[in-house]
Amino acid sequence: MSRRNFLKSVGLSTGGLLLSPAMRAVQARNPLQIPERHEGITTNSRVTYSLRAQKGSTEFIPGLQTPTIGINRSYLGPTLILKRGDDVELDVHNALSEKTTLHWHGLHVPAKADGGPAQIIEPGDRWSPRFTVDQSAGTFWYHSHLLHKTGEQVYHGLTGMIILQDELSDRLPLPNDYGVDDIPLIVQDRRFKSDGSFDYIRAHSDVMTGLFGDRILVNGTVDAVFRPTTTRVRFRLLNAANARTFTFAFDDNRTFSQVATDGGLMEKPLERKSLILAPSERAEIVVEFNASEPCTLISLPLPAGSQFATRGMMARMHSGNDERFDLLRIEPAASLQSSPDLPTVLAKIPRLNPSDAAVTRKLTLSMAMGMGMMGRRGSGGGNFFINGQTMDMEVVNYRIKKDTVEIWEITNDSMMMHPFHIHHSQFQILDRNGKPPEADEHGLKDTVKIGPGETVRFIMRFENYADPDTAYMYHCHILEHEDNGMMGQFTVE
Ligand code: C2O
Ligand code: CU
Ligand code: CU
Repeated sequence: MSRRNFLKSVGLSTGGLLLSPAMRAVQARNPLQIPERHEGITTNSRVTYSLRAQKGSTEFIPGLQTPTIGINRSYLGPTLILKRGDDVELDVHNALSEKTTLHWHGLHVPAKADGGPAQIIEPGDRWSPRFTVDQSAGTFWYHSHLLHKTGEQVYHGLTGMIILQDELSDRLPLPNDYGVDDIPLIVQDRRFKSDGSFDYIRAHSDVMTGLFGDRILVNGTVDAVFRPTTTRVRFRLLNAANARTFTFAFDDNRTFSQVATDGGLMEKPLERKSLILAPSERAEIVVEFNASEPCTLISLPLPAGSQFATRGMMARMHSGNDERFDLLRIEPAASLQSSPDLPTVLAKIPRLNPSDAAVTRKLTLSMAMGMGMMGRRGSGGGNFFINGQTMDMEVVNYRIKKDTVEIWEITNDSMMMHPFHIHHSQFQILDRNGKPPEADEHGLKDTVKIGPGETVRFIMRFENYADPDTAYMYHCHILEHEDNGMMGQFTVE
């Protein structure tokens, strides 16, 4: 197929050049907003968090009001502080005029409390799941998971961070003063219309590649600047974009230390100069600063020859992960309080043994090209497939025995990378194309990047919470792919 015919077949004109829009240059600097923390209210040893999904209007760009939705605020939500061992209740009130759900991404919770597409909260209703926090410290997040509408609701703001603390994270000398030297960075790209409103799906290409924007929001701040007051700062990086992958680095090429992956602390700090996070992946990094020496946190193009780069004809319409742009300007104060040295040892991560696996499940991700990309009909529909099928709420794809260990082997049979995410527990990556994972994929993960043509195997224990009637999800975390079929469900029973 020629390029012209290819573009036509996906509903594009060559004249329109619907490449992902180039990122805009920074205008003025705005202080980085820090979402307030929400520690809940304790009564009779249960900690209750009140969360209200509501409509709002947010001024991201000076002089322009953007209709948004948020939790307890107009855009995004508070950072939930959870403590291991606590009995918690997340009391969610839907004050929107549409249905929603709220999913606790990365948390190990009963299926009924998971906030997936089956746990719908009708407008005006409350949903109050309870569970015991039972996993190690880390950075997680929450977001809408409404069937076919996750992308749109997250885009408008239904997202927040979760910080889970435990005895080890309290004891380690890592920066942990929230908002001072322990900083959430919820990174998103957005596209605005001239009236200030968000410009969600406009063309078929927005669905096919996932939606790319030309402005960066960090914690809902455009052109953000952060002013450190300590010599070390921990950043909790969350890629909360619908589709864009970020390659985090600093403009002066400085080294930083990664201390956590999706599911929590690593075994030891990992020195690095760049770090790739696909949508929904998290990393905690610790960065050193000198007084009055500014720098900028940036996103680099994917490294040349990266296995995550879009291939073939599709690459021409998908330059979005190939740009360099600023994420956050950093301007340290004239005098900094000195932070303790980084610990050399962090967490112990018990390894699951492949010989304990009861089964290996093979899943193939694929996508159809051509018209009809936006055709979501009924509970199925869409043009993104797992094992040739699209998401169907009536179909439970796998029934898994409680407490068993399984290997999942995911193959990507398409021209672009898909970040594969599974609910219920954190997994460990066994191999990528037959080779052991790199050091940054050695820790606990709940999302893994699978490049075109790649095969990744991970191992996971399906512990606790048997419930034959309520399913957990697995899906691509490019939200437009998820919403258009690249999702499936399993029960633990
Ligand atoms: Cu971040 Cu199924 O979710
Ligand atoms: Cu999830
Ligand atoms: Cu995908």
